[in-house]
Amino acid sequence: MSRADLVVVANRLPVDRDDDGGWRTSPGGLVTALEPVVRRTRGAWVGWPGRADLQIDPFTVDGIDLVPIALSADEVASYYEGFSNDTIWPLYHDVISAPRYRRVWWDAYVRVNRRFAEAAASSAAPGATVWVHDYQLQLVPSLLREARPDLTIGYFHHIPFPAYGLYSQLPWRRQVLEGLLGADVIGFQRVADAGNFAACVRRLLHYETKASGIRVPTADGGSRTTLARAFPISIDAAAYIELAQRPEVQARAREIRESMGSPRTVLLGVDRLDYTKGIRHRLKAYGELLSEGRLQVEDVTLVQVASPSRERVDAYVQLRDEIEQTVSRINGDFDTLGHTAIRYLHQTHPREEMVALYLAADVMLVTALRDGMNLVAKEYVASRIDNRGVLILSEFAGAADELGMALRVNPHDIDALKQALMRAIEMPGAEQGRRMRALRRRVVDNDIDLWSRSFLDALEAARRHKEDA
Ligand code: G6P
Repeated sequence: MSRADLVVVANRLPVDRDDDGGWRTSPGGLVTALEPVVRRTRGAWVGWPGRADLQIDPFTVDGIDLVPIALSADEVASYYEGFSNDTIWPLYHDVISAPRYRRVWWDAYVRVNRRFAEAAASSAAPGATVWVHDYQLQLVPSLLREARPDLTIGYFHHIPFPAYGLYSQLPWRRQVLEGLLGADVIGFQRVADAGNFAACVRRLLHYETKASGIRVPTADGGSRTTLARAFPISIDAAAYIELAQRPEVQARAREIRESMGSPRTVLLGVDRLDYTKGIRHRLKAYGELLSEGRLQVEDVTLVQVASPSRERVDAYVQLRDEIEQTVSRINGDFDTLGHTAIRYLHQTHPREEMVALYLAADVMLVTALRDGMNLVAKEYVASRIDNRGVLILSEFAGAADELGMALRVNPHDIDALKQALMRAIEMPGAEQGRRMRALRRRVVDNDIDLWSRSFLDALEAARRHKEDA
């Protein structure tokens, strides 16, 4: 396999090994966002194939060279489920669930980050650009810089970066900052994330920051500049529009409504089953509206798609139990033989089916307690080629910075959430149209292509700057 001019490094490969030894698209927003970019540039992608102890040689899929990284069962438990998803994930999502700080997990995180860095170093052509992704690999930028000073290194952080007061809990807070600062450009979802990061760097490392530039001291006593700023991620809007235009997808949307007894209103939630998504808050608000008689089960159905995620991490096991108990309580209390309050799907569906669901839903509920961006909000908007439907959007999702015409809510405020639900359900068509057109313009103009181009342009500018220095 030849060495590539663009190497993406992410915890997951774009495809996961499934039970039958086949491959399927990996979960989550990161892969959805990046795949079209790498395909276009014919780059290489270094990542884990999603199962323990899988030793696979590099192979090519759709013009992307895939470089699989093997993780032992112990490393999956300590680096992935442990440090990534039971330490960093809850800490960076404002401690919604308590992070666990375990030294053996940190040791595994260092070891596995080194393995990713080594694979990236051997996949990159001289002077190549390497683009590292997300919180599982925060040490890779500096490890890579040590091994290959010729490379231009970018890092994009897909999840929130917390305020200093929370970040400073991390026992390895300096090492993680130093790891990230190995990059020439560090991208965040929101301006606030970049600000939090710069504040942590100032307070913990005492480096100078000026606008988006951070002055990082080098071994020779000089310094170099790392750029840290917001590049809000997006979706392949054209692909969603194309799907929404297909007659068979539109027919499927009608069929979905009919199969539910053609209720007047269909509400929809689509999330990985994660405690950051505010699923419980949304169920609470909906359950109260039913019990107060402000909504009737004959008129309204909530479809909640909750795709399975991180099923061996305790906090996720508990969350699933709570959600499923709440769903069955609400259904038990309010269902009739002909109507169901909540259709709960603990499943993953192909994109066509998701677009049909988006088209079938009058109201989309995004009630995250904290979310880097939330691409589901953007997918819903892009799919609504009919300029109908209402998006309820948490102010704690990164998407709220851009999607100002959504109905904004604080999901912790259950009464406000109930009010927003009622307002969405009763919203006249003309107002839906006005809001949806403005939302769609935002998403269509700022699509995934613009995102990747602006990040790669910033990296290219950093490369030229280094050459001139
Ligand atoms: C979020 C993260 C991704 C992650 C995805 C799915 O989108 O930002 O880095 O891949 O969730 O989570 P998983 O743990 O299954 O990879």
